[in-house]
Amino acid sequence: MTPAHAPDLPVPAQAPCSPPSPMNAPPLTTDPAPSWPLAPTADTADVALPPPPLAGRHLVLGVTGGVAAYKAAQLVRDLQRAGASVQVVMTGAATHFVGTATFQALSGRPVFTGAFDTRIDDGMAHIELSRNAEAIVIAPASADFLAKVTHGLCDDLLSTLCLARDVPLLVAPAMNRQMWQNAATQRNINQLRADGVQVLGPDAGEQACGEVGAGRMLEPAVLVEELSDFFTPKALQGKRILMTAGPTYEAIDPVRGITNLSSGKMGYALAQACRQAGALVTLVSGPTALPRPYGVRFLPVQSAQQMLDTVMAELDMAASTISIDCFIGVAAVADWRPLQVASQKIKKERGLAQDDMTLALTQNPDILASVARRPDAPYCVGFAAESEDLVHHATEKRARKGVPLLVGNLGPATFGQDDNTLILVDEHGTRTLPAGSKTALARWLAQELGRRLPA
Ligand code: CTP
Repeated sequence: MTPAHAPDLPVPAQAPCSPPSPMNAPPLTTDPAPSWPLAPTADTADVALPPPPLAGRHLVLGVTGGVAAYKAAQLVRDLQRAGASVQVVMTGAATHFVGTATFQALSGRPVFTGAFDTRIDDGMAHIELSRNAEAIVIAPASADFLAKVTHGLCDDLLSTLCLARDVPLLVAPAMNRQMWQNAATQRNINQLRADGVQVLGPDAGEQACGEVGAGRMLEPAVLVEELSDFFTPKALQGKRILMTAGPTYEAIDPVRGITNLSSGKMGYALAQACRQAGALVTLVSGPTALPRPYGVRFLPVQSAQQMLDTVMAELDMAASTISIDCFIGVAAVADWRPLQVASQKIKKERGLAQDDMTLALTQNPDILASVARRPDAPYCVGFAAESEDLVHHATEKRARKGVPLLVGNLGPATFGQDDNTLILVDEHGTRTLPAGSKTALARWLAQELGRRLPA
């Protein structure tokens, strides 16, 4: 059932979209279709999982003169892997660092460097190259180039493209730390920001010149994250989200413990999707083998008790500062832990005719239910991992935990996998989402949360 067919249902407000709208940039749109409340029989028919934010986007990548130009080659690759097509334009200085042939081979397109390039039919490279692009990204952006753009100078193809654009401009500065700190550069950066240019970075650390400080270009993988953020509708702009993810590990002794098969992939994907949708995300995670999601506050824990203590401390802290809007329990929390944790490694009793070992277990606290019971409880979302009869168990679990929304999946079918099948349960019924990658499902869930959280 789509909202268009359900005029009696409340229609959530259209989520705001935060990417700055520099100079006539076309507005990004959010999924206009609120998909909730649901009829008991709702199915996948009206749910479209959003594509990755960079999929199908065409970008102009401007490369200016700096050592970090070599990283732009990797950036082309990473952008393509993220689904974007890339038109590379280089300044003359950039070609001293990396040749055009490298970028041509990587991008699969001719590389442009001169304002009077005759390969463009009407000879207007400075206009045409950006006309079918959705953004111009300058990486690396040298101090000199940033100064030119700030003041509207246009004495080469790339600076002219920037001046003649009708799409957003994003710049990734890269320069020596003193050049970055120089008052002139800072003045230029402030002016660029005021003009609606998105400034990505720079990072701090070791520099090509041997000095250490701010001015390093963001790594290509981080730039892809930042660009993905830029193109994601901001359904959760400014929302504070506290999440748990991964398994918990319950120690038996210093070298052994009880855990489960949760990889953390769904929770980490949701943390990333919520952050890309504009939320400030804190992720309390049990032990996983995954890299920490970019831009997410990360609090590692081991046991269920540590996870509970960390979550409660976050909520207590928020109670006296800025409240948390949403708690999402994605963690596969161990239900039991050993009653006693041995302080030394438990040894086999040699010589005894006894092969069995009995471990006394005690139940762990229920973190989600504890959060939902708080008088200041945020909007709570649970994730149920079942092995059979998903709809029945998930419906019962939502009521038992006292949460408004529960997402159910079949644990054995999804633990460790990249794909998942989810159902959603709320007070109106259930909905089955189309099978998809955990990242696509997470993007849909983030937008759905934006429709459900109070403004
Ligand atoms: N959960 C939790 N604390 C626990 C157990 C579960 O916070 N001690 C949360 C999970 O993070 C998840 C939801 O409760 O959001 C459902 O978890 P699940 O393991 O499916 O259910 P259980 O409550 O453990 O119930 P059962 O083992 O009987 O299926």
